Amino acid sequence: MTGKAVAFISNKGGTGKTTACVNVAACLAQSGNKVLVIDLDPIASATAYLGIKPEDFGDLSIQSAASGEKKIGEVIFEIEGMDMHVVPSCRGVTFEKIKKNFLTSGIKKIENLDYDFIMMDTPPGFDYVSREVIKACDTPIAALNESVFSMENLPLLKDIASKGGKRIDCAILSTVNRRSRVSREVVNALSSEFERAFIVPFDKQVPRSQALGVPLAYLKGRSRALRCYRSVAKFLAEGE
Ligand SMILES: Nc1ncnc2c1ncn2[C@@H]1O[C@H](COP(=O)(O)OP(=O)(O)OP(=O)(O)O)[C@@H](O)[C@H]1O
Ligand SMILES: [Mg+2]
Repeated sequence: MTGKAVAFISNKGGTGKTTACVNVAACLAQSGNKVLVIDLDPIASATAYLGIKPEDFGDLSIQSAASGEKKIGEVIFEIEGMDMHVVPSCRGVTFEKIKKNFLTSGIKKIENLDYDFIMMDTPPGFDYVSREVIKACDTPIAALNESVFSMENLPLLKDIASKGGKRIDCAILSTVNRRSRVSREVVNALSSEFERAFIVPFDKQVPRSQALGVPLAYLKGRSRALRCYRSVAKFLAEGE
């Protein structure tokens, strides 16, 4: 069973969390769902990928909602031309002051705004913010890449999730080159580790869409990765 608050998590950096979060969110929005993206990474890549300049929001960002200076409802913005909303992150601003349970209580407060999906992008590692994300989400999705380090970190990832009361049933493995042996081994290992595993192939359209600040679903042209993000969206929306 999946729920509406979805988080892409990993203890390792560069495993495709932001790319998956933004693209799955865009697929969900394009198929008629009301979607909010919450960018919880001070690097603000999800914000930038949605075509927004992270510097523009100043104190109207997730950091000020986390500190309690702003209510979460005050830092939600519409994304022009994409049928989505975002709580942006302000680039480089650390989460210095954090109100306990800011995310769980924030999500409860926005429940009356009727989002079908709240998609959370997280920083790598397991600091307070990431642990808060695990508590606040209904569906944690492990974001992995084909590096063996990604797999070696998996037990730790599962352990941290279980300490936050969550089981990770679903994984997304990005930038796969099926011709490499390591890659094939990781793909095989995944099927025994998760109930559902999605494999995203390497796709040149991904860096292109990131440079343009437009998710794949809103770009013209074919994309192999987009097909996979659409399957994840379908799984979240329809359970299949
Ligand atoms: N399917 C793909 N094809 C090609 N490149 C990809 C694909 N998915 C992700 N990438 C690239 O891999 C890199 C890491 O992706 P991303 O930024 O989404 O990872 P992340 O887990 O969010 O990183 P961080 O931990 O730093 O936040 C990026 O340069 C991105 O363009
Ligand atoms: Mg990221």
